[in-house]
Amino acid sequence: MVDKVRVECAELKLGMYVCELDRPWLETPFPFQGFALDSMESIEAVRRVCDYVFVDTELGIAPRRPARTAAGGASGWSAEVRGGARPQTLASLPIAAAGRPVYPRRTDFEAELARAHTLQTEGRALIGQVFRDVRLGKSLDPGDARAVVRSLTESILANPDALLWMMQLKRRDEYTSLHCLNVCILSLAFGRHLGLPREALHELGLGALLHDIGKMRVPLEILNKPGRLEPQEFAVIQTHTGEGREILRVNSGLGNAVLDIVYGHHERRDGSGYPRRLSGDEISLFSRMVAIVDVYDAVTSDRVYHKAASPVATLGWMYEHRAELFDPGLVESFIQSLGIFPAGSVVEMTSGAVGVVIDASPERRLRPRVLMVLNPDKEPIEQPRVIDLAERPVDAAGRTFDVRLVLEPGSYGVHPADYLSGEFTAAEL
Ligand SMILES: [Fe+2]
Repeated sequence: MVDKVRVECAELKLGMYVCELDRPWLETPFPFQGFALDSMESIEAVRRVCDYVFVDTELGIAPRRPARTAAGGASGWSAEVRGGARPQTLASLPIAAAGRPVYPRRTDFEAELARAHTLQTEGRALIGQVFRDVRLGKSLDPGDARAVVRSLTESILANPDALLWMMQLKRRDEYTSLHCLNVCILSLAFGRHLGLPREALHELGLGALLHDIGKMRVPLEILNKPGRLEPQEFAVIQTHTGEGREILRVNSGLGNAVLDIVYGHHERRDGSGYPRRLSGDEISLFSRMVAIVDVYDAVTSDRVYHKAASPVATLGWMYEHRAELFDPGLVESFIQSLGIFPAGSVVEMTSGAVGVVIDASPERRLRPRVLMVLNPDKEPIEQPRVIDLAERPVDAAGRTFDVRLVLEPGSYGVHPADYLSGEFTAAEL
């Protein structure tokens, strides 16, 4: 496990490895991946920008004097959340200081993949059935949804990378149900990163899974319309938050926190959202979280009217608009929860080879594992293989092998979903 130690900038020494700053990376000139302090200039550069940083004592030297560790995790998740009241600030949650996880990883990626694959299949079937029932006017029995969310939560807590990788499956013809499942998975990984307790994760996951259930009352010709919606059609789409709340209010037995997500996930920080045009902290924490995740998954998915954008570009756009549309602190936390190169990012390496990022969560964000699929001449590699950048591999010429740039999904014909089949992952990883 990465050992992070906080160091005041006045105490920085040559040979330390900076892995985290006291401010967002995006606001600094430094590389996301972290960097070694290999010259006095590099130390001075950090001192000009930061007051303190965190150093990785596995990748570089440790400070001599005992420093404050990055461990955090105040206890005391507010009991109010269970009743549906709103914790309005991150400070009211047991969030790990400086991103150190409250939940240690209990399984490795390979071991978790089999469970993730089964859960993904079950989750897809369940949400499809729930949606069909609601469209037919049947009332919702949330028992199966609860069971699926509980299983998803356990997998995410054990190791979020496996489900985040399975999430690459995004089919246009199944958009709504896969989107709901993906929003659930991403929300759980986000909640894990924030250190939310299990019971809060269950509420958050259920609300995320069912957040668009009201769309089952929107006529299919409007829901699936390619191209621009007319204002009156958009008004019909907007009814899905209220309709969703009504569906769940009748006989579902689901708590206020779940209903609130369904009703509030299209509210925006600047008051431009719907249905109530709430702003800022009037929007509940869980709704603010699901709003971020919902937009992220929609923009990174192929739709009838737009092509999927890359995860990295999407996070960059969301970061730019964090203050108008979202909760800025939560956007930063969400980016941290996914890592610098989110799973499924298509990347070109320094050698020209092309791969797909497999796991790049906070603990591994400096050096993800990459499934290499094209050689430097952009020809398919017959037996794709995984390269672990934490092992500092070198190419044939002895140069460090690293990510050079992030490509759009589909570049050189590389679609992350093509590498998801159970046999492949089981055999090759
Ligand atoms: Fe929605």
